[in-house]
Amino acid sequence: MNKSLEPTKGRLAMLRGLRPFLVPYRKQFILAGIALVVAAGATLAIPYAFKQMIDAGFGAVRAGDTSHIDLYFLALFAVACVLALATAARFYMVSWLGERVTADLRSAVYQHVVMQSPQFFETTQTGEVLSRLTTDTTLIQSLVGTSISMALRNALLFVGGLAMLFVTSAKLSSIILVLLAAVVLPIVIFGRRVRKLSRESQDRVADASALAGEILNAMPIVQAYTREQQEAGRFRSAVEQAFRTALARIRARSLLTVIAILLVFGAIVFVLWLGAHAVVRGDMSAGDLGQFVLYAAVVAGAIGALSEVLGEAQRAAGAAERLLDLLALRSPIQPPAQVRPLPPRTANGAALRLEHVTFHYPSRPQAPSLADLSLNIAPGETVAVVGPSGAGKTTLFQLLLRFYDPQQGSIRLDGIDIRELDLHALRGAIGIVPQDTVIFSANAMDNIRYGRLDASDEEVVAAAKMAAAHEFIERLPQGYQSFLGERGVRLSGGQRQRIAIARALLKNPPLLLLDEATSALDAESERLVQGALEAAMAGRTTLVIAHRLATVQHADRIIVMEHGRIIESGTHASLSAQGGLYASLAALQFSHQS
Ligand SMILES: Nc1ncnc2c1ncn2[C@@H]1O[C@H](COP(=O)(O)OP(=O)(O)O)[C@@H](O)[C@H]1O
Ligand SMILES: [Mg+2]
Repeated sequence: MNKSLEPTKGRLAMLRGLRPFLVPYRKQFILAGIALVVAAGATLAIPYAFKQMIDAGFGAVRAGDTSHIDLYFLALFAVACVLALATAARFYMVSWLGERVTADLRSAVYQHVVMQSPQFFETTQTGEVLSRLTTDTTLIQSLVGTSISMALRNALLFVGGLAMLFVTSAKLSSIILVLLAAVVLPIVIFGRRVRKLSRESQDRVADASALAGEILNAMPIVQAYTREQQEAGRFRSAVEQAFRTALARIRARSLLTVIAILLVFGAIVFVLWLGAHAVVRGDMSAGDLGQFVLYAAVVAGAIGALSEVLGEAQRAAGAAERLLDLLALRSPIQPPAQVRPLPPRTANGAALRLEHVTFHYPSRPQAPSLADLSLNIAPGETVAVVGPSGAGKTTLFQLLLRFYDPQQGSIRLDGIDIRELDLHALRGAIGIVPQDTVIFSANAMDNIRYGRLDASDEEVVAAAKMAAAHEFIERLPQGYQSFLGERGVRLSGGQRQRIAIARALLKNPPLLLLDEATSALDAESERLVQGALEAAMAGRTTLVIAHRLATVQHADRIIVMEHGRIIESGTHASLSAQGGLYASLAALQFSHQS
């Protein structure tokens, strides 16, 4: 298990940061508080009612008067009723708060995470984000949903119980305080050790299952290399490790049980013994003694619970700190203070202008991926971008979508710096078919409709036809309603690409970006899609990245990139004649084909 994902202890002050999530539910907190105080009051009243019953009730019976006894039992039952109702009310309110606050927190964190720029996802692992959303929020839930109320309730019980102890018998109380410290402290300390051990043994089990998960996913390789025995052995030793850790926990727990029972009963017996003498001497009544023992139990229980709550609160504070850190994160891609609107769409598509753009990825400050790149694209133009892999072609598209901002230079869409545009307006004007297609685990219809959510079924089908996807979708078992599998595993690479193209075409954007959109297609479907794309390029500006030069020959202009720079630019004919990089690439590819 990843160490950084483990719940760690944090400063309790961190919990203050959760205030904004608690404030909306002020009313519910007050109601929970009332229920809590009533329940604690009833708990504290029970030993007193008990004493009344013994002394007055039985005393009266001995004196021959039985009329009171019913009343005392009735009173005791009434207290129990109040306790039951108030406890249930407290549980309901407090659990409701825990679930409510956690749901809000989860949504807030997720909403915040999906708005982060790609830079965030480069440096943060998805597993880490998921663990924030589940483990950390669950810790907060247990804090709000139980720990806070446990702490308050036990603090009340502790103070109230202690006061009642002294009211009952100051002398015995002083003795029992010392005894309580002597009994509760070792139990608390030892209990913590047991809890730590039990968390450790959970971790070992998690280790073993992580190992199993990895291996089960790689079964074909394991069997092809005949490593079954080794893998079984590796798992066995992980399980044995878990067993040994569990054994340590079990031993500690057994010891704790002996110590706890001996100490607690020893203390009770001792105090009862002292109390019995006091009763015999006539210093206190039998009821007083019973009341005293019950209050002592309440106080001891409160101390134990408080120490437990403290440990939990500290872990929750660690979780809160990580969640709040995440929520405080600002995406480096910020909307402008003053948004400028895009001019209305023209019949030809968008104009694009890059001026001296220099960009390096945040993780690679030394190596610019685009260097002093200038480019001017007229509305309706189709520009092909070619060049060796790593030249910066995909990076160029990322900047156009404003996934990153360039360190120098500017990018203008229809004359407006894209940093002055609303982020959604900018991205709404761009359709992209990325290098790695993304298919959601949904049906074909919904996957294409992702491009424009309000598109009708007919529009989806039209887009699919344009992308040469209609035919194969029709042949799927349930046509457009066919589930495509997780990440589209039930499709071939070329089919996935055609779905992605249909999605982008459905959006009908003024600027279309195709990043090796036909790389996974066979020659026949490439010819189909190529024809479709050429039709789709009408009325919009298109940038096409392609490795196969045959697909870009008809572009209005071809630019050749290398090491983040444009090194050549022209048409297929002019570039071939130049004898540069393009000419040599072309010579290589076309000689193979012919
Ligand atoms: N997220 C990233 N972080 C750091 N470097 C990157 C990242 N993506 C791409 N690069 C680097 O930027 C350069 C250009 O990459 P890219 O634009 O993907 O090339 P291509 O022309 O093959 O599409 C490469 O050297 C690549 O290693
Ligand atoms: Mg690329």
